[in-house]
Amino acid sequence: MNAILAPDPPEAAAARAGEGRPAGKIVALANLKGGVGKTSLAVNLACASAVAGARTLLLDADPQQSARLWASRRPLPAEVRAHPLEREEELGAWLEVLQRARSTHDRIYLDLPAALTSVTTAAFLLADLVLVPTSAGALECHATARTLRHLARVRAQRPRRPLPALLVPNRIEGRAARAQRRLAALGEEVAPAVRRSGRIEAAMEAADWVGAITPRLAGISRDLRALHRAVEARLAAC
Ligand SMILES: Nc1ncnc2c1ncn2[C@@H]1O[C@H](COP(=O)(O)OP(=O)(O)OP(=O)(O)O)[C@@H](O)[C@H]1O
Ligand SMILES: [Mg+2]
Repeated sequence: MNAILAPDPPEAAAARAGEGRPAGKIVALANLKGGVGKTSLAVNLACASAVAGARTLLLDADPQQSARLWASRRPLPAEVRAHPLEREEELGAWLEVLQRARSTHDRIYLDLPAALTSVTTAAFLLADLVLVPTSAGALECHATARTLRHLARVRAQRPRRPLPALLVPNRIEGRAARAQRRLAALGEEVAPAVRRSGRIEAAMEAADWVGAITPRLAGISRDLRALHRAVEARLAAC
C-alpha cells in the first residue's frame, strides 16, 4: 500500500493526450470472494456500454484471465485486453496504463482478482466507481463486508475524491427485494439485482455476451440493462 504513489487526477490523462473531451471513467469490479460474478458482470456490462455508444475497454487484471479468454474466440462489442500485474515492482507502470486509458476510452471496466493484492488497492485508488457483486448468502456477505472494509481504508487515502460503490446482488433466485434488504445492511448503496440465469454461462460458452444471444425482453437482458443504467447514473453523479 505504501509503495503506491498518489495517481494524477483523472483529468490529467485526457489533458496530456491534448483532447478537450472528459476523462474516461474507471469502473472496478471487486470482491474478495471468488465466483460471485465479477467477470460475468464485467464482460456483459462492458458490452452493454459499448453497444450504447461509449468507447469501452475491459481490462482483465485477474491472473486467471477469464475475461480475456471469454473474448478470445471472436471480438466482443467492447475491447478486451489483458492487464495482469506480473511483478510487484511493475505496479507504477500498471497504474499508468490504467490512467492512460482514460484518454482513449469513455468507460474502462476493470475485472479484479478475488484477492486482497496491491492491484485491488491500486484499482480502488484510481477508480471512479466500484461494483461489488455478491449473493445474499452468509459466506458471500462475510467476504463482501471484508471487501468493504478494505474499500473504506482506501477511501481514507483519497479524501478529496469520494469513491462511490454499488453492491450488486447477483445470481438472485426468488424475491430480489429480500436480497437487496440483506445487502443494504452492509452499509453501501445496493444496485438493481441480477437474477440467476443459465444465459450468463451460455453467453460465455458462445464467446459472446448476453445481449447478443438473448431477446431484449428476456429477464436477464432487462436486469443487465437496468444495472448498466444504474452504473451510468452513479457515474453521472460523480
Ligand atoms: N447471474 C448469474 N446467473 C447464473 N450464473 C451466473 C451468474 N453470474 C455468474 N454466474 C456463473 O457463476 C460462475 C462464476 O462467475 P464468474 O467467473 O463471473 O465469477 P468471478 O467472481 O469472476 O470468479 P473469480 O473470483 O474466480 O474470478 C460462472 O460459472 C458464471 O457463469
Ligand atoms: Mg473472475
